[in-house]
Amino acid sequence: MNEAPIGIFDSGIGGLTVASSISKAFPKESILYFGDTAHLPYGEKSIESIQKFAIDISDFLLEKGCKMIVIACNSASAAAYELLSEKYGDRVPVVDVISPLVELISSKSYKKVGVLATKATVRSDVYSKKLMALNPDIEVFSLAAGLLVTMIEEGFFNNDISHAVLHKYLTYPDFEDIEALLLACTHYPLIKPEIEAFYKGRVAVYDSVDSVTAKIGKILTENKLLNDGKEEPFKRFFVSDYTDSFEQTTKIFYQDKVQLEIAVL
Ligand code: DGL
Repeated sequence: MNEAPIGIFDSGIGGLTVASSISKAFPKESILYFGDTAHLPYGEKSIESIQKFAIDISDFLLEKGCKMIVIACNSASAAAYELLSEKYGDRVPVVDVISPLVELISSKSYKKVGVLATKATVRSDVYSKKLMALNPDIEVFSLAAGLLVTMIEEGFFNNDISHAVLHKYLTYPDFEDIEALLLACTHYPLIKPEIEAFYKGRVAVYDSVDSVTAKIGKILTENKLLNDGKEEPFKRFFVSDYTDSFEQTTKIFYQDKVQLEIAVL
């Protein structure tokens, strides 16, 4: 089992931000990534559809022998983490991107927190529910930022267009006086520097990449699952639909060359 790959999935290519962090933190681990490009964007889908996709993908990852399932997508974590934990948790650890960030934030003494996410994540109200369960004094304000995913995939960040779009979202009245802003989407780590520049240190800005990577390290160690084999680790990247533009977009999120393979579930 130790030499088996870590299975990671997302609605598409954005989850490569999480895959990249995992592969840098654990260079001896093999990685098997699945991007559900045939069904994206999950942010616009119903809970029921996302749950069905998440089960099909988890079955695929387990058939391929993965030793862990990482839900890199916030929308899928919001819709399907509990379901996947129940269904597969006795076979492999299931990790989502929301719980590790929630644990980190609730350990701070924030009173008012903002969440920027897709429509599916905001509709689930998951950050509010999970943060308030751990810290009943916290106030959580979530905003669906529908334009950001497409904007980032089109390469619009760190420019006039992204500044204008972000200004519109970050001046949302409920975000006034927040002490921390949670970037609750695979794509948003790419605009984190711009958001930090907007707030000029007044608001602490978090994405889930570091906290989920730390959680994976803890689980691998505690369950004695770290790769101790001598074989060179491999990385494979599957998508449910292939276009050249998906392969182009991988560069934005993975910062290294990625060769996509097609896998129809
Ligand atoms: N991966 C999705 C998320 O993190 C964003 C893209 C989509 O809507 O599919 O919520």
